[in-house]
Amino acid sequence: MENERPLFIPVLLGTPRQGRASEHVANFVIEEVRKRAGVETELIDVRSLPLSTTDAGENIKIPSFSAAMDRADAMIIVTPEYNHGYPGMLKHALDTNLKEYIHKAVGICGVSASGFGGARVIENLLPVMRELGMVTIFTDGNFSNVQQLFDENGVLQDNSYVQNMDKFLHELIWMAKTLRYGRDNITL
Ligand SMILES: Cc1cc2nc3c(=O)[nH]c(=O)nc-3n(C[C@H](O)[C@H](O)[C@H](O)COP(=O)(O)O)c2cc1C
Repeated sequence: MENERPLFIPVLLGTPRQGRASEHVANFVIEEVRKRAGVETELIDVRSLPLSTTDAGENIKIPSFSAAMDRADAMIIVTPEYNHGYPGMLKHALDTNLKEYIHKAVGICGVSASGFGGARVIENLLPVMRELGMVTIFTDGNFSNVQQLFDENGVLQDNSYVQNMDKFLHELIWMAKTLRYGRDNITL
């Protein structure tokens, strides 16, 4: 049956900063996604994307990134909070695609040095997701006090995040399956 095709849910790491703590979060999220049967994933790191600054939007498409977004049923964005907003590089990367995102699910994991778990960057990304045609879920990943949350080897120090991620992925997978059904079966 068509619906038994594995879902593809890549994780987009949204900052290129040297020493970024968000990388630990992205690695943790990928590990949790990999535990799910019937889901394939890969890390897409904005640091590795050959992003041009000669233009913006679809004029500077990166074929491998566009192909991954085209194949994706959903995306997880891991983004730090920078002055309550999202990194410019994340937005520059997101802007390179458009039709690839339409009617796909998206979940956002905010990362912050403070106790707010990136709540403000998540709120600021939501209207962008809507404009890209993606469907947001009502469960977020909120990674607070991230400098204490992982040890120097990137090992998570608070297991309550495993349970939170389980809830987040449950919701994201439900939405991804629902939207795949809609894309495949519903024409108006
Ligand atoms: C330019 C800049 C702005 C920042 N603004 C915020 C902020 O508004 N709120 C916050 O909680 N942390 C802020 N931080 C701290 C980040 O949350 C912190 O660096 C955290 O580790 C996540 O970002 P990282 O992946 O770059 O490490 C800021 C960091 C930078 C570099």
